[in-house]
Amino acid sequence: MRMDVKTLQRSLDEAGQSHLLQFWGELSDTQRSHLLEELQGLHLQELNGFFHRAMDGFSASSTQEKVDARMEAVPRDVLGSFTRDREHLKDWEAEGFTHIAHGKVAVLLLAGGQGTRLGVTYPKGMYDVGLPSHKSLFQIQAERILKLQRLAKEKHGKDCIIPWYIMTSGRTMESTREFFQKHRNFGLSEENIILFQQGMLPAMSFDGKILMEEKGKLSMAPDGNGGLYRALGAHGILKDMERRGIEYIHVYCVDNILVKVADPVFIGFCVAKEADCGAKVVEKMNPTEPVGVVCRVDGVYQVVEYSEITLATAQKRSPDGRLMYNAGNIANHYFTRKFLQQVVEVHEPQLQHHVAVKKIPHVDTQGSLVHPEKPNGIKMEKFVFDIFQFAKKFVVFEVLREEEFSPLKNADSQNGKDNPSTARHALMSLHHCWVLNAGGHFVDENGTRIPAIPLHPIQENGSAPGHPQNNMKDAGDLPIQCEISPLVSYAGEGLEPYVQGQEFHAPLTIDESGVHQAVRNGVHP
Ligand code: UTP
Repeated sequence: MRMDVKTLQRSLDEAGQSHLLQFWGELSDTQRSHLLEELQGLHLQELNGFFHRAMDGFSASSTQEKVDARMEAVPRDVLGSFTRDREHLKDWEAEGFTHIAHGKVAVLLLAGGQGTRLGVTYPKGMYDVGLPSHKSLFQIQAERILKLQRLAKEKHGKDCIIPWYIMTSGRTMESTREFFQKHRNFGLSEENIILFQQGMLPAMSFDGKILMEEKGKLSMAPDGNGGLYRALGAHGILKDMERRGIEYIHVYCVDNILVKVADPVFIGFCVAKEADCGAKVVEKMNPTEPVGVVCRVDGVYQVVEYSEITLATAQKRSPDGRLMYNAGNIANHYFTRKFLQQVVEVHEPQLQHHVAVKKIPHVDTQGSLVHPEKPNGIKMEKFVFDIFQFAKKFVVFEVLREEEFSPLKNADSQNGKDNPSTARHALMSLHHCWVLNAGGHFVDENGTRIPAIPLHPIQENGSAPGHPQNNMKDAGDLPIQCEISPLVSYAGEGLEPYVQGQEFHAPLTIDESGVHQAVRNGVHP
């Protein structure tokens, strides 16, 4: 039911937010109705509570000692490793495929972010990093799901579905939905793609006043990727999972071009270890790399940010020469449905928001739009990994960065890291390795083979992996243009019929219609 303006004014007064109606007299009917709707959607007392708890936590953390003394590295018994446990990989993969084939596995994509650093106005999943195929991140992920369904069917002889839950936000929902419709869901069935929306919170000044983006509009932002847990409850997503028989969920971020969606090895590992919660990590190589590390603090698992520990601790090494705190978080998680159920029902309300101090454009009391030069307020966010602490059995799975992690965060012009070029190169370097592993070769314009050290897929014997950078002609050179459709290969498997014993000139693309490249030697399949 609609509240009248007087009643609203009273509750805003009580909550110390009366300034929100300051420009009411200047607004058009449409603007008034939008503002009314926004304000009625706010739980003012709850919001003030969030603000005070978040700010208290923030000031405590800035005066608190670093966590070094309370921190322990992930013990070996909860750690699985793609390189160090090669003898188990086949079994874990088989276990994962069994659960996929029995319809027990779902994927959950976190796609509610604003992508401010990338600087596009549309959802990041729609971004084309410039691959030969010009596929978007959404399409790459959709095709990996399709391929996994097919692989599971080949192995178990029955059709199966991996439902795809996609969390969007008020800012990304409509365009995401339209994009999927326009592309006919990339071949997936519409009923198995479930879009739901996370919550939004207003940006606040340091003294707890809600900031306004326009005279009739609040400055709203999604409540962080940990907004997932509240959204799961609010939209009955866990009920939907239960109805479909889902037990195991792979949660991941939209911006990682290499993400192994519903990776059967990871799922199988977590199930075999009877974990309720698991994190995939890559090895942190450099002490000053600004990546959060998974570790235990006061006996419970969490992600510790680089800023929370001293340099001396970040530099500590184990006897094997690796960094002691090297489990770099890549926002790639496993949860059982039962664990998520408990999180939603019991723990979510206990999680306090983190504070992100920002420069927030806003309308000041005179009604002028201000673009502040220094931080003027906060956004409040929860993080997806905030729930690790509640796990009864937590496990960690270490994978190779060059095979599984290349996030798209920045625009090309901004800096040389985590941008469209690095994402594109990472994917093409990996696919180049797959070709080599399957017995294909690349030759240069003179017909001379381009030397390279292949990466190794899951093998019985398991030799040490090489690095994709070795597949570039020279250090600093661009990678060979090579793209393999996920519909042809999920993780490098099944490529022999396409490439074995053959030499290729880049660019090479392999998709369901075949190999698109002049074949110099060997017999085309
Ligand atoms: P980031 O923290 O990198 O944020 O999100 P972002 O929105 O992609 O980019 P910036 O910081 O504005 O430049 C990591 C992942 O978490 C999701 C993002 O969509 C991305 O997959 N996310 C982030 C949400 O789903 N909701 C949020 O509120 C924030």
